[in-house]
Parts: sequence; C-alpha cells; structure tokens
Amino acid sequence: MRVGVLTGGGDAPGLNAAIRGVARAAWREGYEVVGIRNGWQGLLRNDVFPLTPDAISGILPRGGTILGTSRTNPFKTSEGPRQVLDTVRTRGIDVVVAIGGDDTLGVAARLAKMGMRVVGIPKTMDNDIPGSDYTIGFDTAVTAVMEACDKLHPTAEAHQRVMVVEVMGRDAGWVAAVGGLAGGADVVLVPEVPFSVDEVCQRIKDRHERGKLFSVLVVAEGCKPKDLGTQVAQDAAVDAFGHVRLGGIGSVLAGEIEARTGYETRVTVLGHLQRGGSPTWFDRVLATRFGVAAVELIKQQRFGHMVALRENKLASLTLEEGLTGNHTVDLSLYNLTRLFG
Ligand code: F6P
Repeated sequence: MRVGVLTGGGDAPGLNAAIRGVARAAWREGYEVVGIRNGWQGLLRNDVFPLTPDAISGILPRGGTILGTSRTNPFKTSEGPRQVLDTVRTRGIDVVVAIGGDDTLGVAARLAKMGMRVVGIPKTMDNDIPGSDYTIGFDTAVTAVMEACDKLHPTAEAHQRVMVVEVMGRDAGWVAAVGGLAGGADVVLVPEVPFSVDEVCQRIKDRHERGKLFSVLVVAEGCKPKDLGTQVAQDAAVDAFGHVRLGGIGSVLAGEIEARTGYETRVTVLGHLQRGGSPTWFDRVLATRFGVAAVELIKQQRFGHMVALRENKLASLTLEEGLTGNHTVDLSLYNLTRLFG
C-alpha cells in the first residue's frame, strides 16, 4: 500500500503534526508513504517524493507544512482532474490522504466520485467544516487572539483608547467569538450577526459612562456592518475557489468609531500571526489523532470518508456528509460575549 499525503489551502498550525501522525501510523502497518507537494498542485505537476523518517523527525512543534500548500483547484480546467488521476496511477499511489479545509476536501469528494481512493483530515483556523466540531489550527488561532487582547488591554487603558482587533475566519465567527471571549474583549462582532456601527458606538459610550475609559473590540474580517454595506475585501480578485481576500473592516470600523464618538481609536490586524508559529497542545494532539485515525480509515478501506471530532470523540463520515451545511459560530458563545464589556 502506498499512501500519498497532501496539505491544501491556507496553512494551519498542526499540519506537520498530522503528517507525522499519518506517516507513523502508516509505517506501523507496513505501508509506504509519499509526500505530495503544494496540495493538489503536486498531483497536477507530478511533484511527489518519498517521505522518510528523517523528513518527519522533529516536525511536531513546527508551524507551516513540510509538504507546502497552495489553493489549487484541479477542476478549474477540463484536463485537471484527469491529470490528477494519471499522476496517482503512474506514481503507484493507492490512496491519497488530503489534509485541508472545505475547498481541498471538496476537491477530494469530487475525485472520490471519479474513482480515486481518498480519505480526508479537516484543518482550518476558521473552524468552519460542518462535519467536525473542531479543526486543526483553530485552537492556535484562538490563542493568538487571546494573547493579543491580553497585550492590548493595558495599552488601551493607559491611553484611554478604543482598540479594534481584526481577526480572520472568513465567513465564520468562531475565531472572533472564542478568541474575544478568552481575551475578555468588550465588544465582539461576528459575520453571523450583522451589526450596526451606531449600536457599537453606544456600547463604547456606555462603558465610558460607567468609568471604563478604554475598550477592546474584536471584529471578524467577514463581518457585515448593516449601515456600511457588505463585507470589506482587500481587492476584487478571487482565488481558484471563488473567494475574495477579506480584510479592512478593522480600519473602516475604527475610523467610524473615532468620528462618531470622538474617542481616540487604533486598529490592529492580526492577520497571518494567527496561522504562523507553533501549534498549541490541543492542535498537536488533535492533529496527531486525526492523522492516525485517517490510516485506520485506510485499513478499513473506508475511502471517500473523512475523520472528525464530534462531541469530543473521534468520528468518521463521508466527505459529502462532512461538507454539507454550514458550521457557523455557536450563538450561545457569541451571546456570552454580550454579557461582558
Ligand atoms: O481560511 C483560512 C484563512 O486564514 C482565512 O481566515 C483568511 O480569510 C484567508 O485564509 C487568508 O488567506 P491568505 O493566506 O491567502 O491570505
């Protein structure tokens, strides 16, 4: 059995831990493991190499991915899917382990329908895969938001300022809600609940009236301000899966707050700091469990399935089931953020 492993989409801390988990479990079964470079691109370009124990030595705490990643969609061209299947056949790959978010796993589901043997592992700092309660990279991203809030509170207080922290998460508010809750943010804004700038300003003014002359706001990049239009994007370009590059809501909001309240306001865009660096213990353990569980799926010949975490237990489901619906933020968590501030 020759197992090919790839990582696709935006990187997430814990990818290397998952690769290591797959490799170690596969070797225990006597399988061979090959790495596929840069996600689906590696199968379009026949960029495959043997994975050795040396290659995975010491990678558990490392961010990024030793395999490289890209947002390549083989279905963008008519010959793409056939090229992927040809590489799989000519390189003697019996099964592909695809580690990715909804785009990468969506491609895996389509290739599975075309007869490719594939199993999936869900990763994304956005935590927006419907079939899994948590995905690799989310916990580390939340920790980055929490630590940023912890650092911004004292400087906000010292200068009596409003600090707006823009966080990633695409159309899901998980990173903002959980990070904001953990970091004690005074206002948390998520894409799932459109907000009014006036109401946000009122909440900050109410704090001032209670003697709290500073505020820390966490705003998700995908937020929809009711009175300012739609989501804010960095430019109009879209990636191979049709996504715009979100970003900019933080400074738009900071400008509005300063103009409407007169309070001095600053913005911090956390950006890729949420995705870089070493994974937390939770992401390392989750990724390790997912990697080993993916090999279990291979052993059981359950191709076209993905591993998942459901109610704190490892689970598996078909890729289609795992990608159907939306994994929007748990509103009870968001409502909890409203209690504070
Ligand atoms: O999907 C993960 C993610 O970090 C999103 O939260 C964010 O919108 C996007 O990727 C950023 O993409 P890029 O790395 O291409 O800038």
